[in-house]
Amino acid sequence: MRYTSTEIRQKFLDFFKNKNHEIIPSAPVVPENDPTVLFNTAWMQPLVPYLLGEKHPSWTRLADSQKCIRTWDIEEVWDNSHLTFFEMLGNWSLWDYFKKESINYSYEFLTSLDWLALDPKKIAVTVFEGDKDAPRDEESAQIWEDVWMPKNKISYLNASENWWAAWDTGPCGPDSEIFYWVGESEFPPEESNVWNDEDNWMEIWNNVFMEYKRVEDWTLEKLPNQNVDTGMWLERIVATLNWEKTVYNTDIFDYIINKITEVIWTEYNEKTLKAIRIIADHSRTATVMISDWVVPSNVDQGYVLRRLMRISIRQAHKLGFKGLFLSEVAEVIIEKLWLAYPHMIDKKSTILEEIVREEKQFVETLEKGLKEFEKLTSPQPSPLRGEGARTGISWKEAFKLYDTFGFPLEMTIDLAEEKGLKVDVEWFKEAEKKHQELSRAGAEQKFKWGLADDWEETTALHSATHLLLAGLNDVLGGWISQKGSNITAERLRFDFNFDRKVTREELDKVEDFVNKAITSECEVVLVNMDKQEAKDSGVEWSFWEKYPEVVKVYTFKSNSWEVFSKELCWGPHVENTKTMWTFKIKKEESSSRGVRRIKAVLIK
Ligand code: ALA
Repeated sequence: MRYTSTEIRQKFLDFFKNKNHEIIPSAPVVPENDPTVLFNTAWMQPLVPYLLGEKHPSWTRLADSQKCIRTWDIEEVWDNSHLTFFEMLGNWSLWDYFKKESINYSYEFLTSLDWLALDPKKIAVTVFEGDKDAPRDEESAQIWEDVWMPKNKISYLNASENWWAAWDTGPCGPDSEIFYWVGESEFPPEESNVWNDEDNWMEIWNNVFMEYKRVEDWTLEKLPNQNVDTGMWLERIVATLNWEKTVYNTDIFDYIINKITEVIWTEYNEKTLKAIRIIADHSRTATVMISDWVVPSNVDQGYVLRRLMRISIRQAHKLGFKGLFLSEVAEVIIEKLWLAYPHMIDKKSTILEEIVREEKQFVETLEKGLKEFEKLTSPQPSPLRGEGARTGISWKEAFKLYDTFGFPLEMTIDLAEEKGLKVDVEWFKEAEKKHQELSRAGAEQKFKWGLADDWEETTALHSATHLLLAGLNDVLGGWISQKGSNITAERLRFDFNFDRKVTREELDKVEDFVNKAITSECEVVLVNMDKQEAKDSGVEWSFWEKYPEVVKVYTFKSNSWEVFSKELCWGPHVENTKTMWTFKIKKEESSSRGVRRIKAVLIK
């Protein structure tokens, strides 16, 4: 009998429901209305205030299956266990249980015959070895011993392995990771553990014990409360349960790989394995991204999406296929995933159209990029370097090819090698890494990298987005809801449902509405509300089903208690609209069928 992903996802949620956890829905991969991060890399972002000590009004135990995107392991994607998109099964304790219960729950779920029934003899764990900041985690080790984990299967590792934080600063803590034996022999040799035999163990679950906060000067402070955040990769646990060493041999990937081999006329064998796995992973991530409103572009999320698609296209080219194929692959991905994420089926035609458009366009960009590459690498007389003295491609040049023409690094390397040139990979990688770190970084890192150079402006535009939605509903009738939002320090972009062009007179009225709210010096007030209560009181939000039972509602209200906007959101916002400048709509256009797009700015 083969275990399927659907079955395991459900078992996990049932287990934690039995342990009094509230099951919360997955958020989109792009945090809605949160300009500070590119992707949800774990289901932390919305919970941070509670980790830091704000008492949550109702829940202390949560569990979910969260769609996550992480691109920092992209180079390793074709190995057995790394992916750019994965589903993270997780349980949370906010001021509730700590190490003992958490480890016991994990162990019970994995090994109990009522649940996953994995063999305890094939499990090994790691705990934090301690450093100058925080002590060696003897406590977790003892708890593992108490559930009959042999001492030599418990490895103590350093902070690079066993310390978890979502950002440079903020909540963090030591973790204990659980591994399953994937070596050749049926059982692990007695002396084998994660420390001395890493390659034969697959990480399946991470228990993070969040009781610290890292502050600006990089020192650690104890939080007023103890929390637990765990994460288990669905793809890895399904592989493990089916005695597979790789996530690619599961129901999650079987059908994608079959489809790829069919549409690009190739076999899945040792020679093609790497390319096909890359295509399978990247096209799955791309499809999920587009279903959560990401569109290909040269910046932010769209830049990551574009790169994934282009790498896939190039991998197919390498296997000798030059036509369009990605939308056919995306179609089977949607067919599989929509059971867990139903909105994907509603958006199917939009997703497929977007993919075809990008795929076609790449051929053109590719041509231009190749010309640029030729220009770059043809010998140029230089008084300093001498005739044609070029020996390599600088990281800046490689980054330009990547950034402007969408050439992934390995494509530039291949092209350079043909000309006997080297690419300054190290610096490129530094630059690229910084770019990728954005997906898990807070605003501070975003500043450093200069993409959103003014946090206050971005926040002000975020507040303006709320007022814009309220203004649209005021002027066009109360049917408008958000279909997408993207904010930089310079402008906001807002997509909403409406089936005709909005006239200039209407846009003027919307502007007046927003500017009135700004000049009325509205206070922006945050309250935690019961979801139903918020819904009944007319709070704006388009994806109710995605939100937990208690939600955060931001209200913009003037001194005379006039309410301009009341919307569900995770923040951040200005404290008072008096710090905002004048709101101006620059553009109104069609985004897709039935969806309009507004670009707007705040001007001094
Ligand atoms: N947030 C933790 C992780 O992603 C559980 O590993």
